[in-house]
Amino acid sequence: MNILFAASEAHPLVKTGGLADVAGSLPRAIRNSRQEIRLILPAYPPAIKHAGRLKVVAELPLPGAAAPVRLLQGQLPHSRVTLYLVDAPAYFDRPGGPYSTPEGNDWPDNAERFALFARAVCRVALNRAGLAWQPDVVHCNDWQTGLVPALLSLEATRPATLFTIHNLAYQGLFDHDRFRSLQLPEDWWSMEKLEYHQQLSFIKGGLVFADHITTVSPTYAREIRTPQFGCGLEGLLEHRRQHLSGILNGVDYRVWNPGQDALLPYTYNAHRPAAKQNNKAELQKAFGLPVQSERMLFGHVGRLVEQKGIDLILQLLPELLQRRLQLVILGTGQPALEEALRAAGRKHPDRIGIRIDYDEALAHLVEAGADSFLMPSRFEPCGLNQLYSLRYGTPPIVRRTGGLADSVVDASEEALARHTASGFVFTDASAADLLQAIDRALALYARPAAWKQLMLTGMRADFSWTRSAAAYIDLYTRLSDLRPVARTRPGKTSSTDTLTVSN
Ligand code: ADP
Ligand code: GLC
Repeated sequence: MNILFAASEAHPLVKTGGLADVAGSLPRAIRNSRQEIRLILPAYPPAIKHAGRLKVVAELPLPGAAAPVRLLQGQLPHSRVTLYLVDAPAYFDRPGGPYSTPEGNDWPDNAERFALFARAVCRVALNRAGLAWQPDVVHCNDWQTGLVPALLSLEATRPATLFTIHNLAYQGLFDHDRFRSLQLPEDWWSMEKLEYHQQLSFIKGGLVFADHITTVSPTYAREIRTPQFGCGLEGLLEHRRQHLSGILNGVDYRVWNPGQDALLPYTYNAHRPAAKQNNKAELQKAFGLPVQSERMLFGHVGRLVEQKGIDLILQLLPELLQRRLQLVILGTGQPALEEALRAAGRKHPDRIGIRIDYDEALAHLVEAGADSFLMPSRFEPCGLNQLYSLRYGTPPIVRRTGGLADSVVDASEEALARHTASGFVFTDASAADLLQAIDRALALYARPAAWKQLMLTGMRADFSWTRSAAAYIDLYTRLSDLRPVARTRPGKTSSTDTLTVSN
């Protein structure tokens, strides 16, 4: 099978969150199952920098672009996955992040940027980019690729489309003027198509037009059909429920494995877990906390946004300070949350360590050095940090929602007795429920043998991509059987200009 995988970020090329971890590892797992999968991303400067050797394989005149858009071809690093970068410098060659300015505001032309990206993806999807390669399935991810299934629906012959929701809270909403300037079909401005409360919704392009929709955990696939989690799209998702399913994300254990993690000062594994303590001391030092091995250390890494329930942790600080524990938090996000955390860190420098930063090495050290990982998310489509915590022997404390509910087994006495417990699960998004879970963790931590068993159960759990990649391949097969495309014989690509990038 030929699969085109479209995303707006992929590790190690460019990353803001878990989508990059998935887009950087799922295609590789699928390629290792001998399917021809190719990844397509916008050519942001860090993506060009980290991709290494690239060559220009096509120049595409596209509506909305003053100059032809170049398609650069290379390789997703450390994989056999072919990579295409959509090179439109006026849109993507900028400082700042993939979606926002260096100051953290959305780029004002995000609608144009991701419409252009979608049009380039469609050219490749329809074998109209001169690559002599016809995908059977186009796998789109999140709102940035939402127009792809919509635009492809206008074609008489097209590959099957799959749209994966990584986070329904981000929908790509723009005003009517934008809709007009993008020159999309007039009749798409309707509730049945791309209009959402008088706005253009990119994500609806995926939800309405894709042949199938997945999300990144079975529980979230059910939750988003309810008003509490549906972000206003629950009616549409309920309507499409026959074509909606959940596949839990996997972990790239080459990147997230304490036994061979080059970003850690000390490696360890389930057979030799002792060196975890050395990482704890390093973590305490990194955050300027007193090095106290017996004191329980809680950690958190993530985007500082309401989704992650960071405000619940803030509310609890007075209570937490009455307990014998330390807390470290690494993240960036909403300015008010950043400031509140900074202030707490300044006030209690020997108990609370705060780093407002995006720092990959430190994220690994928090996973390795903390005793327990806090993840009190209000909603969590899948969540990867709790999966990393399990492997790093850092039992997570999670709310029973989305992928958290699907991956962590609560340390009830029964589950402990059966050796299936791997963390602490609480139900309500309230400070009181979170505190109860933290207290249960403190109590179990005081029982070294029971704690060790909890750690080891998590460390031995297998969330590698194998099972999930097989589920995607099964789905791709069913979709392409329903909508077969004419095959072309593999041939040479059109242009062979070579652009070599030195890093
Ligand atoms: P989400 O995608 O909602 O942000 P996930 O748990 O799926 O949440 O994935 C988050 C990913 O981003 C993890 O790989 C995590 O380590 C990384 N990450 C988030 N914030 C930071 C940060 N401040 N520094 C380094 N890595 C971060
Ligand atoms: C989103 C979700 C997160 C998920 C990630 C990768 O950013 O918030 O729960 O793990 O995508 O699918």
